[in-house]
Amino acid sequence: MGILQDVAGPLSQQFFQLGLGAQIGTAFATVLFLAVFLNVLKQALFRNPNEPPVVFHWFPLIGSTVTYGMDPPRFFEENRKKYGDVFTFILLGKKTTVYLGTQGNDFILNGKIKDVNAEEIYTVLTTPVFGSDVVYDCPNAKLMEQKKFMKVALTTEAFRSYVPIISDEVSNYIKRTPDFKGKSGVVNICPKMAQITIFTASHALQGKEIRDKFDETLADLYHDLDMGFSPINFSLHWAPLPWNNRRDHAQRTVAKIYMDTIQSRRARGGEDNAQDMMHHLMNSTYKNGVKVPDHEIAHMMIALLMAGQHSSSSTSSWIMLRLASRPDIMEELYQEQIQNLGADLPPLTYESLAKLPLNQAIIKETLRLHAPIHSIMRAVKSPMPVPGTKYVIPTNHVLLAAPGVSGTDAQYFPNPALWDPHRWETDSPNAPSILRNEEEEEEKIDYGYGLVSKGAGSPYLPFGAGRHRCIGEQFANVQLQTIVAMIVRHFKFRNVDGSNNVIGTDYNSLFSRPLEPANIHWERRETA
Ligand code: HEM
Repeated sequence: MGILQDVAGPLSQQFFQLGLGAQIGTAFATVLFLAVFLNVLKQALFRNPNEPPVVFHWFPLIGSTVTYGMDPPRFFEENRKKYGDVFTFILLGKKTTVYLGTQGNDFILNGKIKDVNAEEIYTVLTTPVFGSDVVYDCPNAKLMEQKKFMKVALTTEAFRSYVPIISDEVSNYIKRTPDFKGKSGVVNICPKMAQITIFTASHALQGKEIRDKFDETLADLYHDLDMGFSPINFSLHWAPLPWNNRRDHAQRTVAKIYMDTIQSRRARGGEDNAQDMMHHLMNSTYKNGVKVPDHEIAHMMIALLMAGQHSSSSTSSWIMLRLASRPDIMEELYQEQIQNLGADLPPLTYESLAKLPLNQAIIKETLRLHAPIHSIMRAVKSPMPVPGTKYVIPTNHVLLAAPGVSGTDAQYFPNPALWDPHRWETDSPNAPSILRNEEEEEEKIDYGYGLVSKGAGSPYLPFGAGRHRCIGEQFANVQLQTIVAMIVRHFKFRNVDGSNNVIGTDYNSLFSRPLEPANIHWERRETA
């Protein structure tokens, strides 16, 4: 006691002799030091053996937010080596439990509705962008019905009609874009692919009337909506900040454009043969007999376009960058079309896409290495025992699945870091183990929107699994295959420096997209 008084007395005298600024600084440093000290002590002394290990971190609340945010896949790999497949880290103050590997994917994505919940996590981000009463702003059972309406509209007949629409959009885009004037040039490919994606998706899924509006007002409005999707909005979605004000204005305006279009289409009548999504939703009825209201159709149109835009546009950018790094494969793709479709390269059809296996494998392989969604999260609703361990995940944790990690696991994919589209041929030395087991019957399940493969045990899940699985997979494949086939008909790509390198990933947005500028050199084909 005596010693403490001897030390504390002079220290407090010195403290009060400091100016106000220095006093605040000293007090802050002391509080910070104590917080760090207690946080480290807690991790060292009070480990709960029934919960997964916690990734070591110095600062409470911040935890591992920065290291995770800089490069999520590297964060997962490094901590998997230290802690195994199941570990917890602090993400903006929230205990987030990662469960990697095929068992982890199954545990989280196929979790029961009483145990896991997606809407609690995503609604703050998505509802202001999509609008009310759809996707994560309604009970899960209603989302399942909405997914069914959307999925049912995506028929083979509809896809048949989409291929010419998408090919024409790509050709017209190349013709009118100043960056593609002349015989060769250099272009930052990402903004170009973003535009091609939105023009093709809006035209195919929402009809020509809406597509034409993208040349006028809709492009800017969708850009403002997009700003609402930044990771910072997980915390600041409610704040009256400039980008949130623009988001809210854009949401109201876009929804009104869709609702006006619905009303004028209804007034016109006589569209029995229409294949677009809006037409289908206008004629859909919930199980309880209620017709889908106009505002829900409008909000689903926004949700559909936004859900597809980021994932398809970043995938197509990665494909172009990969082709620029491997001009030999781009040439193989061209020869595949000549050999399988004819030297005169007739207009693409849905049927002709099926004759281009390498063209299909390009998409599969690119999604394996560049799955746009690196982290899939769920709130925990009841304590969840992890089979084969003593861990029970409590309800104050968030669960995080990262299927991309098993997609790059050497256990399933020989030479996992190598972009090798030929690995999807059964006799390739790099063929994944899942190809060899493909004859085994896959377990299927219906969550209310049609039979989907459960994906349990599969290391390749770029479209997710379970009740929240993607319903846009076939559309994305048709869209991407058509875009790639058309680009290959027009251009030869290479890296500007002639190397085989590929640019790094930008993890600042919610999607794993290429860093920009992602410049590539293009040369027009003689035949184009
Ligand atoms: C869900 C990936 C394209 C519409 C998902 C999920 C993934 C995914 C991983 C699951 C999310 C979760 O479990 O939380 C992709 C990829 C795409 C793509 C990689 C393209 C390469 C599309 C397209 C559309 C679409 C083109 C629309 C036409 C949806 C919808 C959901 C979904 C409606 C359901 C959300 C839910 O049930 O919670 N997608 N997607 N996606 N996707 Fe896609």
